[in-house]
Amino acid sequence: MKVMSVFGTRPEAIKMCPLVKVLESLPQIESVVCLTGQHREMLQQVINIFGIKVTHNLNIMRSEQTLYTITIDVLLKMESILKQERPDIVLVHGDTTTSFITALAAFYQKIPVGHVEAGLRTYDKYSPFPEEMNRCLTSEIAELHFAPTENNKNNLQKEGKRKNVFVTGNTVIDAFSTTVHSDYRFKNAEIQKVLKRANKIILVTAHRRENLGKPLVQICDALLSLHQSFPDLEFVYPVHLNPKVRKIVFSKLSNVEKVHLIDPIDVEDMHNLMSRSYLVMTDSGGLQEEAPAFGIPVLVLRTETERPEAVKAGTVRVVGIKTEDIVEQTTKLLQDSKEYQTMAHAANPYGDGHASERIVKYLLHWYENLKSK
Ligand code: UD1
Ligand code: UDP
Repeated sequence: MKVMSVFGTRPEAIKMCPLVKVLESLPQIESVVCLTGQHREMLQQVINIFGIKVTHNLNIMRSEQTLYTITIDVLLKMESILKQERPDIVLVHGDTTTSFITALAAFYQKIPVGHVEAGLRTYDKYSPFPEEMNRCLTSEIAELHFAPTENNKNNLQKEGKRKNVFVTGNTVIDAFSTTVHSDYRFKNAEIQKVLKRANKIILVTAHRRENLGKPLVQICDALLSLHQSFPDLEFVYPVHLNPKVRKIVFSKLSNVEKVHLIDPIDVEDMHNLMSRSYLVMTDSGGLQEEAPAFGIPVLVLRTETERPEAVKAGTVRVVGIKTEDIVEQTTKLLQDSKEYQTMAHAANPYGDGHASERIVKYLLHWYENLKSK
């Protein structure tokens, strides 16, 4: 079976590389990896850590890219790659524009699509934007749906998708066997310095499209306020390479002692730093799945989440994007050790680290059935 995995951004790569490694290891599978290159440096960082074999890179990233340029570039370039490779199935991940447009390109050539991390929903088509619509449309095209949780499976079934929906766990947990080490030595010198001081670390990431502008300014103001109220905290904020993000974050938080703005760190540094943090404040989807596995509470800098399992489990809390709300809820958690411990000891709902193996098992089974028809 020829399986073509296509991805283009950092989080897709972190969650697809463990799967690609399993695909590469099996003699009955020919694994082809195509990067769209929607991200460049941040994608390469992940590929370097996992050391997977990349067959194609469409290299589409532009410094001021828009949803239109990503869409057109991926769609046109995928046409010839798919004609050349003719895979038995194309695997895409989650909700990026790379994923949806690749699924569309495969559909135009009647090539089946397997959707990894399927079934996440907020039911608000503008939030997260454009991810909610990207994942709904990808579900419409996909033949196989790999849902991380039962809740994700239920979402798909409510939409009438009853065939080939499999609960697998999230492959991000699989990634830890490559990235997390108890005796880890950090590559980033700033992180090494911060860890030596033995203060509590708050790991921050914020860069989502819908937070660009005023929400991101409010988030930065909240960090400034918390930093003043809690002088023993060290904030480590790896800042996304998007110039629109960097302009705001650096103008608000540069030269603030104990607020450490650093360039994106590779996923080994990231996962090991997360495991040593006291709290995570983020608008990222991936961090809401990763931090619970380390027993680290997460405050979500958004107005909603498509990961209600983690909220239900008690390990993730949505605090919104208003300065006063973020400050109030973070302060409460920092001052109430009982509440903190409850969040820190909630169970991780995202799986046991064997999601990739399950996905490959279902893939092989599907292919056998197809061939026997
Ligand atoms: C994209 C995805 C989002 C995902 C996020 C993960 C879409 C529409 N958005 O959003 O779903 O959560 O990735 O981070 O698919 N840049 C670089 N180097 C890099 C990566 C980005 O310089 O390695 C800069 C470029 O200027 C680029 C900009 O960041 O134009 C924005 O990248 P883009 O992929 O369009 O948006 P993200 O916010 O990263
Ligand atoms: N991440 C990383 N280095 C960083 C910031 C994030 O390796 O400097 C990882 C993080 O651990 C998670 C993923 O990137 O696995 C999240 O990516 P992002 O926030 O860009 O996307 P989202 O999760 O919002 O889709």
